[in-house]
Amino acid sequence: MAGQPGSDADVSRRRAPEREVEGDPRVMGVPMQPLVRAEGEAQAGSPGERARRRPRLERARQRLRLVRVRGLRRTVRALVQGYVFAVRRWYLLYRPLPAEAPPPPPSPFECRLATLDDLESLAVFEPNRQRREFREWLTSGALLFVAFAGGRPVAFQCFARSVPAGPPLSGLTLRPDQLWTVDVQTLPEVRRQHAAAALRAYRDHVLAASGVREYVSSVQDDNLPALAYGYGGARRLVSRVSLLSWVCVLGLRRIRIEADALAKLERRLAAAGRLPPPPA
Ligand SMILES: CC(C)(COP(=O)(O)OP(=O)(O)OC[C@H]1O[C@@H](n2cnc3c(N)ncnc32)[C@H](O)[C@@H]1OP(=O)(O)O)[C@@H](O)C(=O)NCCC(=O)NCCS
Repeated sequence: MAGQPGSDADVSRRRAPEREVEGDPRVMGVPMQPLVRAEGEAQAGSPGERARRRPRLERARQRLRLVRVRGLRRTVRALVQGYVFAVRRWYLLYRPLPAEAPPPPPSPFECRLATLDDLESLAVFEPNRQRREFREWLTSGALLFVAFAGGRPVAFQCFARSVPAGPPLSGLTLRPDQLWTVDVQTLPEVRRQHAAAALRAYRDHVLAASGVREYVSSVQDDNLPALAYGYGGARRLVSRVSLLSWVCVLGLRRIRIEADALAKLERRLAAAGRLPPPPA
């Protein structure tokens, strides 16, 4: 990713039009379901007037739906961060996937794509992620991989074909062969037991065969475990890293993207003791 608009071939910066914010139907593919089916039909006015009102209604519906899925706390946080005040930085990690990924090595975890039948068992991730969010992902075409131990979910990793709604990440775009990492989580009591690594090997195998060539993820710059995991330890799985800085003060926004931040990330991880020395 480059610091100048449009200068990156894969994920490019563009000014996010206001209408994308909050209401982007691409986000987790939030389906647009009518809240009041008869609303449009009952509207008074000429056909032209009705047509003009429709996008506004759609946007309102999408916003309401997004609020319901995200929950009030996250919605308020996203609004404050996007429109009122925020000074934050995310590393953007690019991880290539070869055309053929080997079958996953044997692991104590059973890994597979989740379905709606798994919904109740995914409650183990609450309150971090709610069942309604998992439902939304599962019904909207996102890919939800889950690792189980003894039949119980212990880790999940979710991927989408588009970037999240709202500034600043809605300013990024994806190639058709790229996937956006929506979230990866392992239950706290199971961390550092290679559940996430097992899931990664499994989904690499599945997704490489389906034409995916790169994962793109954003990790806040102080989330060291997630940065260490995304970086890939001594094997260094990422091919590129950029650093997105976001400042918003009462609607005045500035996005800055440092195109090549790999060395910076390595220094940060090494200083925190999260970067093992490469194998001799
Ligand atoms: C990030 C996270 C998913 C890693 O899951 P995990 O199951 O503990 O990861 P694994 O045990 O499979 O670790 C795989 C590799 O990632 C790296 N890694 C993972 N956690 C690490 C940590 N805390 N410190 C340093 N390296 C770490 C290591 O290279 C590790 O391999 P190694 O153990 O052979 O050195 C987990 O810490 C988590 O759920 N964090 C909270 C949620 C979160 O922040 N998600 C990211 C949102 S952007």
